[in-house]
Amino acid sequence: MIRTKIAGVGKFVPDTVVTNFDLEKLMDTTDEWIRERTGIEERHWVKRGEETSSTMGAKASRIAIEQAGIEPKDIDFIIFATLSPDYFFPGNGVVLQRELGITQTEIPALDIRNQCSGFVYGLEVADQFIKTGKYKNILLVGAEYHSGGLDISTRGRGVSVLFGDGAGAVVLQPTEEDGKGILTTHLHSDGTNAEILSAKNPGMHGGYHDDDDSVYGYKDDDFSFVLLTDNMVKNGMIHPYMDGQAVFKTAVRKFPEVIIEALKNTGYSTEDVNLVIPHQANLRISQFVQKILKLRDDQMFNNINKYGNTTAASIPIALSDALSQNKIKSGDLVMLAAFGSGFTWGSALIKW
Ligand code: ACO
Repeated sequence: MIRTKIAGVGKFVPDTVVTNFDLEKLMDTTDEWIRERTGIEERHWVKRGEETSSTMGAKASRIAIEQAGIEPKDIDFIIFATLSPDYFFPGNGVVLQRELGITQTEIPALDIRNQCSGFVYGLEVADQFIKTGKYKNILLVGAEYHSGGLDISTRGRGVSVLFGDGAGAVVLQPTEEDGKGILTTHLHSDGTNAEILSAKNPGMHGGYHDDDDSVYGYKDDDFSFVLLTDNMVKNGMIHPYMDGQAVFKTAVRKFPEVIIEALKNTGYSTEDVNLVIPHQANLRISQFVQKILKLRDDQMFNNINKYGNTTAASIPIALSDALSQNKIKSGDLVMLAAFGSGFTWGSALIKW
C-alpha cells in the first residue's frame, strides 16, 4: 500500500530575537504577563527588507530538499501555507518557485489560506496527490512574516505579544515501507465566527458582513474604492483582531476532538502515541489539551517559549526541532494537530 512519508524537514527563523523584555520597551506589558498567559519568552522577528515569508520559506525548503536527498528541480508540486504572503496576489507558491530557481520545470504551485491549520490542510492535500501517484516529491511550506503587520503599541498588546516569524518545510514522497507514513488526516471548519480571529483589512469585503459599514470609512458611491481607507489606517483597523477567550475556549475543545478522531480511525489510543506536536498557539492551550487527553509530559512537544506563535510555520518548525532533539525515532507514532482562525482545525497521524 502506498502511503506518504515525510522525507525531509527544514526550518528557518530570522536572526533577530525579541524577548518579552524588549516588548516592555515598545508597549505597556511585562515579561510576567506574557509568560504566565502564553508561555512565550522570546520570538524571532524579521528586520524589514531582510526576509519575507517566501524567502524564509525558501531557506527552510532548501534544508528539507537536501535532507530528502533530492534537488530543487525534482520537486513536482509546491504547496505554500501562509497568512502573511508577500503580495495580495500572486500567491507565495510561485514566488517561492522563483526563489528556488525552478521555474523552468513549470510545476504547479498552490497557496493555502488556512492560517494556523494551514500546514495540516496542506498535508492532507499532498497526501491525496501522493497516494494517487500524481506527484512524487511535493514541497509543503508553512511560513509567516507576522511582525511587519502587528500593532506593536499598547493598543495591540493583546495580540502582538503572541506572534513570531519563521518558516518550516517538508518534502513528501511515496513509501511502501513497513506500514510507515501518514496513516490518516482529518480536516474541519466552522465559519460561524469567522471574524473572531481575523485581519479584515485590507480586504474586499466592502463592509458587507458588518451592520455598520461606516466604521471602515467607506464613501457612499456605488463603485467606490474599498480595499483600504484612511480611516482603517488611522484607527489601527489593519491589524489582526482576536477575541482571545473565545479562541481559547474553542481551541481546547477542538484539539482533543480531532486528535481522538484520528486515533479512532486508526484503532490506536492516546497511550500508543509517542509524540503529539500541536500547533504552538499558546502553551496554556497545549497544557489544557494535554490534561484533557491525560498525556504524559514526554508525549507533548512544546517550543512556543522560543518562537511565539508562528501560525502555519509552527508545526513544521516544531517537527524540525523535535527531530534534531531526537524526540522522534523510526516507527514512532506522531500526532500533528492544529486549530486556528476560521475556525479551522485538523489532525494527522504519522508512523515515522
Ligand atoms: N500585557 C499586559 N496586559 C495585557 C496584555 C499584554 N500583552 N494584553 C492584554 N492585556 C490586558 C488587557 O488590556 C486586560 O486589561 P483590563 O483588565 O484592564 O481590561 C487584561 O490584560 C486581560 O485581558 P484579556 O484579553 O481578558 O486577557 P486574557 O486573560 O484573556 O489573556 C490571551 C489574553 C493570553 C490572549 C488569552 O485570551 C488566550 O490565551 N487566548 C487564546 C488565544 C490564543 O492563544 N491565540 C493564539 C493565536 S490563535 C491560534 O493560534 C489558534
